[in-house]
Amino acid sequence: MQDRVIKIGVAGLGRLGIMHAKNIAYKIKNVELTAICDSNNKNLLKYKQQLNIEYGYASFPEMLENKELDAIAIITPSAFHCDQIELSLEAGFHVFCEKPLGVNLEDSTKAKKAVFDHPDKVFMLGFMRRFDPSYKYAKKKVDDGEIGQPILFRSYSVDPISSIDSVLSYIPHSAGQFVDMAVHDIDLARWFLKSEPKSIYAIGGCFAYPEFGEYGDGDNVSALMQFENNAMAFFLAGRTAPHGYNVETEIIGTKSTLRIGSVPQKNLVEIIDQNGVRKECSQSFHERFEDAFKNEMQEFVDCILENRKPEVNVEDGVQSSKIAELATKSFKTNSLIKL
Ligand SMILES: NC(=O)c1ccc[n+]([C@@H]2O[C@H](COP(=O)([O-])OP(=O)(O)OC[C@H]3O[C@@H](n4cnc5c(N)ncnc54)[C@H](O)[C@@H]3O)[C@@H](O)[C@H]2O)c1
Repeated sequence: MQDRVIKIGVAGLGRLGIMHAKNIAYKIKNVELTAICDSNNKNLLKYKQQLNIEYGYASFPEMLENKELDAIAIITPSAFHCDQIELSLEAGFHVFCEKPLGVNLEDSTKAKKAVFDHPDKVFMLGFMRRFDPSYKYAKKKVDDGEIGQPILFRSYSVDPISSIDSVLSYIPHSAGQFVDMAVHDIDLARWFLKSEPKSIYAIGGCFAYPEFGEYGDGDNVSALMQFENNAMAFFLAGRTAPHGYNVETEIIGTKSTLRIGSVPQKNLVEIIDQNGVRKECSQSFHERFEDAFKNEMQEFVDCILENRKPEVNVEDGVQSSKIAELATKSFKTNSLIKL
């Protein structure tokens, strides 16, 4: 690998941003965490000191004036992503941006134009599940034809009820379950099925927390989609898993079925006690996808160093955000939507 070191500025040091910042600072090769940015001054000062970073900014545009940087990682609330992508590319930086690309099609289209206007820059979207070793393994089997023709894709993404307080404070800027959470499953469905949906019908409700209803959202929502290649897809996105962070996926094919994480587990340890035999579960996205977050950021850095484009591109962002937006519309209007 090259000796060159990519200097990154991370914007947004919240639930996920601080994990990316620490990965860049300590766990990724050929990279340096050179600057951090957070509009919350208290947060900024705390991490500037803790991570011993030379540059700290409360203003995103100010960080872009730092020409020592090569790249910007955007981990701010979703509504800021598209503007910040555009500003960063125009200022001459490579860009990594967390999912979702945008919270509406207009924003996503604007970000796509900015990426297309800067073909010399690397742009990567953070669909980290594609970098999880188990998802990668399953994808290779599907691509190699081992499951035959895919018939049904099923995926569940449910946050643990233990994190409900943090989730409730996050709802106002989450853009809703479909855009915030189910967008991962939508991306996986497109990735595994290698096709685009032609129809979608979404339902859901507030089963435990009416607070979601105030934002036109549900605490658990689901949708059924049919793809252009006629494969079916079903997903559930929720916030109330009693046992932990539950992400599972199944792909049924004409020759075999693959299941990823269908029994949620923290590790391979089985506990045998007076209640029987059990396994503990991961309690957060940080824990379940620890490797995936590192792998995706390493891929971003390697793409810059090797002058190549990442597999997860802006088009994946536009498509998944568009489908999530239509799912939200279907949920709100209780109608089948043809794409
Ligand atoms: N890949 C995943 O599984 C995953 C998991 C969690 C969050 N995310 C995504 O990461 C992003 C951040 O989510 P989070 O849960 O960390 O949010 P958060 O609310 O915990 O943190 C956001 C941080 O950004 C800061 N901020 C707000 N506006 C800013 C601005 N204009 N410039 C700079 N800083 C600003 C806030 O002060 C806060 O510290 C969201 O887009 C979310 O969808 C992805």
